[in-house]
Amino acid sequence: METAPLQAELKHKISQAGQIVASYKWLIDAYIVDFYEEDHWSKLPASWAAFLADIPIRTLSHLLSFDLPDKELAVWPLAIITLRSLFRFLVHTRTKTPECTKREVALGETHGGTIYRQQTALFKKSVKLKKRHEIEQFAISCFTQPTDNCKTIIDIGSGQGNLARTLAYGFGFKVCCIEQNMSFVQIARQKDSELWQRLIKYDPTLEDTVVHPVHLHEKVNLDQIDSVKFVQMLKRVLNFGRELTSDADEFSFGLVGLHPCGDLAPSLLRLFLACQECRFVKLVCCCYMKLSSIDSSLGISTRECGFPLSEFCHKLHLTLTYEAREIACHAIEQYREKLLTNYSELKVHAYRAAIETIIVRLRPDLRHSGLKGGIKASEVTFEEYCRRAVVDLDLAIADEEFQSEITRQFLDRWEQVVKFYTLRLMFAPLVETIILYDRLLFLLEKGTRAGIDVIFDPFLSPRNHAITAFK
Ligand SMILES: C[S@@+](CC[C@H](N)C(=O)[O-])C[C@H]1O[C@@H](n2cnc3c(N)ncnc32)[C@H](O)[C@@H]1O
Repeated sequence: METAPLQAELKHKISQAGQIVASYKWLIDAYIVDFYEEDHWSKLPASWAAFLADIPIRTLSHLLSFDLPDKELAVWPLAIITLRSLFRFLVHTRTKTPECTKREVALGETHGGTIYRQQTALFKKSVKLKKRHEIEQFAISCFTQPTDNCKTIIDIGSGQGNLARTLAYGFGFKVCCIEQNMSFVQIARQKDSELWQRLIKYDPTLEDTVVHPVHLHEKVNLDQIDSVKFVQMLKRVLNFGRELTSDADEFSFGLVGLHPCGDLAPSLLRLFLACQECRFVKLVCCCYMKLSSIDSSLGISTRECGFPLSEFCHKLHLTLTYEAREIACHAIEQYREKLLTNYSELKVHAYRAAIETIIVRLRPDLRHSGLKGGIKASEVTFEEYCRRAVVDLDLAIADEEFQSEITRQFLDRWEQVVKFYTLRLMFAPLVETIILYDRLLFLLEKGTRAGIDVIFDPFLSPRNHAITAFK
């Protein structure tokens, strides 16, 4: 397949998106916890500040929905209208395309005979809704893709093995998991055994057909991937070559990663390219802020870093700050819903920014130490929120701080904080698109067939793009 037009489109979009991110660095890099400390509101262009001062919070939800046509009546500042229009063109969709949904419905029939389809309830037992959704969609995506009969899957960063169990017992893949955390490996083995006991109770004939997942306690190292040793290890643990099969020399496999954090994702792409036996790779990524990047202080050479990967982005000297990569990991659909329904909960941003000013005044060394989360601002007073949020810090806050005039003034401005934060969040899908397109371009530059599909519902699982490549 001719990939030149796609590569040209990706390059064009990356360049444009990169320029926008550079122009709005002042907003994208502005941590909301510093809202008062660094007077973020004063950084807004005057026309933006004047417009935002008057609009109701709900109206902001429009800023977070590029896939929807403009229906709002408010006349936004020209620069914001322009940005929204550019984002509509540049941002990779976050919802499933109609073609993708149609294809899935057609292909849905093909997994009708699988054990997963017959015993779905057993597979879903004790798995949270988000994870269930991810595993089901990821497994169907593996099952329905053209893999030239490649039925061996290596799941790297497999956690507690939920995906592997579904792929092996539910869809008939031979699966090897690699996970660096020993306690997860132990839990995975235990859960495999529990599910297996339930499955054979229903259908004792499975004993003859199913291959149990293999769980290895290993760490994949970005700097030292030895593809030959890696394949040898896989053959050994999967008993390849020792079986009396005619295809013993034709060992092949696919690599998958469900939310491999930070540099693990680029490692998997490099491993896919380095191993001749690896036919495909499928990743849904997360935690972009943990990527090593050119401007990080980790001393990583530009060729080995986690971002950027493509020749094109290297030549462009494209960089993304930690703050930009961090905002790209936020759940914008869920936030949009809160703006529309339950926005008093969003006072939390103002509470945290006000606490930060107290911390900076009392103990500057504790700046950006991180506050405890998970406390609902709509259910507690500021004082209670503050006491609970700083519980892990070595800090005593006097009662007067909570009632002080300056704190009261800060909290009265909570809507400004929400508005500023929403503006910043508007850029999140653009930054994520740059990272995704850099990876896609990298794979295309290396001569593989590659694409990006939305495979999860963004409300349930916001990091929902699967990058798949074949060779
Ligand atoms: C976000 S979790 C995802 C777990 C699992 N795939 C899932 O979706 O439930 C990432 C996992 O990757 C593992 N991991 C991170 N870096 C790794 C490495 N270099 N080698 C092996 N495992 C790694 C972590 O221990 C963690 O369990």
